[in-house]
Amino acid sequence: QSYEYILVSRPDPSVVLVTLNRPKSLNALSSPLFKELNQALEEADKDVSVGAMVLTGSDRAFAAGADIKEMKDKQFSDVYKNDFLVDWTRIRQLHKPLIAAVSGYALGGGCELALMCDIILASPTAKFGQPEINLGVIPGGGGSQRLIHAIGKSRTMELVLTGRNITAQEAAAWGMVSRVVGEGEGEVVKEAVSMAKEIASKSQIAVQAGKEVVNAAYEMSLSEGLRFERRIFHSLFATNDQKEGMAAFAEKRKPNFTHS
Ligand code: HXC
Repeated sequence: QSYEYILVSRPDPSVVLVTLNRPKSLNALSSPLFKELNQALEEADKDVSVGAMVLTGSDRAFAAGADIKEMKDKQFSDVYKNDFLVDWTRIRQLHKPLIAAVSGYALGGGCELALMCDIILASPTAKFGQPEINLGVIPGGGGSQRLIHAIGKSRTMELVLTGRNITAQEAAAWGMVSRVVGEGEGEVVKEAVSMAKEIASKSQIAVQAGKEVVNAAYEMSLSEGLRFERRIFHSLFATNDQKEGMAAFAEKRKPNFTHS
């Protein structure tokens, strides 16, 4: 499968790396790009040999937002009838973990795309922001809602209402990213791939369950979420991987998960 706006590679047999590749427009997220991105990620999600995915951009830009040139002449009737941006939500349906490796600009829809991923690692050059207010609009890819969970109300208001960018260090201090990796070209992708590889070495069923319960916290009350977590935990006792993982511990050996 060859794509026009993304590159897809296998840095490890268990990891798929998707690189946004519209360098001339700083990886502006056009509809055709998003179609390709969904297709590549959904394919990886279905591939039994893949345990986790990594999404990255270039050194200069993870993505500078939705494609403004594509959007600028749209009318309300177009965006409403065609449910503009509906494609973006498909990323949330993936079962396997998706790690964002962010260098350079992650603005507007680019920031929202990173927030849709399960884990964000940032290079020291990363800049996050929601500059939509400067274009006479607001975030439309979940930024206002997901940022609240990540960094709280006051900081979300500041980003959404002033449009200012924050540095990787601020994003880390605010809890929006897991951590800022060391300097050096390609470092953030290297770290993300190595994290993806580690995740891929676990039981895929347990990983899928872990992702499902963590994400459920966004949608449920605490008591519902706790109950859901416990029930999913119970259900893992029906898997071979639970038997293998606990037997391996007791026998002081490495587990050999069969993802069953
Ligand atoms: C289309 C874009 C773009 C974008 C950059 N480009 N961002 N094209 N959509 N979001 C294009 C520029 O037009 C230019 O093309 C080329 O990329 C290089 O950009 P420059 O502006 O020349 O680079 P620089 O001076 O280094 O400035 C970088 C920048 C700036 C600060 C990131 O490009 C910028 O402010 N971009 C827009 C950021 C933004 O507002 N994002 C939010 C979009 S709205 P040419 O052809 O001139 O070389 C959004 C809505 C989300 O995301 C809601 C739905 C998900």
